[in-house]
Amino acid sequence: MESYTFADLVGDEELFFAEYWDKKPMLRKNALKGNPADILSISRLDEMVDMEVIRPPYVRVNLNGNGISEKTFTRTVTVQGTEIPDSVIPERLYDLYRAGATIVWSSLNHIEPRLRSFCGLISDKLGARTDCVAFLTPAGHQGFNPHHDPVDLFIVQTEGTKHWRLWNPVGERSSQIGVYTEEQLGEPAIDVLLEPGDVLYLPYHTPHAAAARDRTSVHLSIMMRPRKWEELLHKTVEALTEGPEFAAFPYIGDSRGASVEEEFAAKLTALAAKLGAVDAGAELDRLLDSGRRLEPGRPPRHRPEDTFAYSAALDGLAPGSALRRTGTPLTVGATDNGRTQLTCKGRTIAVPTAVADVLTGLEEGAEVFAATLFPDLPADRSVRNAQGFARLGVLEVAA
Ligand SMILES: [Fe+2]
Repeated sequence: MESYTFADLVGDEELFFAEYWDKKPMLRKNALKGNPADILSISRLDEMVDMEVIRPPYVRVNLNGNGISEKTFTRTVTVQGTEIPDSVIPERLYDLYRAGATIVWSSLNHIEPRLRSFCGLISDKLGARTDCVAFLTPAGHQGFNPHHDPVDLFIVQTEGTKHWRLWNPVGERSSQIGVYTEEQLGEPAIDVLLEPGDVLYLPYHTPHAAAARDRTSVHLSIMMRPRKWEELLHKTVEALTEGPEFAAFPYIGDSRGASVEEEFAAKLTALAAKLGAVDAGAELDRLLDSGRRLEPGRPPRHRPEDTFAYSAALDGLAPGSALRRTGTPLTVGATDNGRTQLTCKGRTIAVPTAVADVLTGLEEGAEVFAATLFPDLPADRSVRNAQGFARLGVLEVAA
């Protein structure tokens, strides 16, 4: 898959945040280079149907504007004695699709690593929770009636085409779903046939209607939940009130004494002082970072070197394999009787001092062979030690 950035989605970021963000919908034709079907293709959706265990609520069916009961397209299967009551029946799902149903996959970022990364572009930039929903609509069918959703959206067309109409947000922004008639809405602000690679941004409360025309359509709806000042300030106060100063349990019932009110006033004054001393930039950075890691749109927590495949590849580490130091911190502890303690990721191990010296002396980017990494050891022991330190994340295979 092509490597995308947030700027690929929105174009000029300064212009986007000044003119569109939280204000009005935006259309970007041909925003995504490469092959947008690599993000999510019709054939990948076929594979997901074949898996059968990608089941409700991950998959839902909508026909003529109404949700179809999941009992219509699922059955119970037994896995090692445990009943799974809602495994998908592919042929039923295909029957519904041929009858004009839109198939909807929710939270696909839980299932597809590439979609997790794609959502991560938005989470990283906004410090907001994101969630990826895929819609597959057969040619000639409207998915849903005009409505607005209670979330901000990025729409990404990955295959086929879909006709979209969007109206500027009207009235008070509401966190409820809203349904409209064509007469209520009048002329749309944006009327476009979305093609692969096109992107729409919809602030929440943007009325929209979409219909597949002469081509099957796959689009992603990436839902964002930016946090209001209210939520951000709540987090700041929560952090400031941690600790012993605010840990007591006051009695605040009817018969409380005047001292409780005095104490409360003193706590408020203390909190106000703490609030006044907050470094706004540093606190916003902290809030941004916490927002990036909100479920379910958080970026992957593991690194490539944590994977089973990486670990398995280390089994075959050859004497001639080139290795180098990673950025993982390694703390040197006490030396006793020719062995030195090294601490890495909370784990302490004692190694021959010569080995500790080699590991801590390796310069950044310097490559050494597994067989000669520890020159005082026989080649096979040097390789085994190298494997151990690579599994720990201290070394990595240079290639
Ligand atoms: Fe919608």
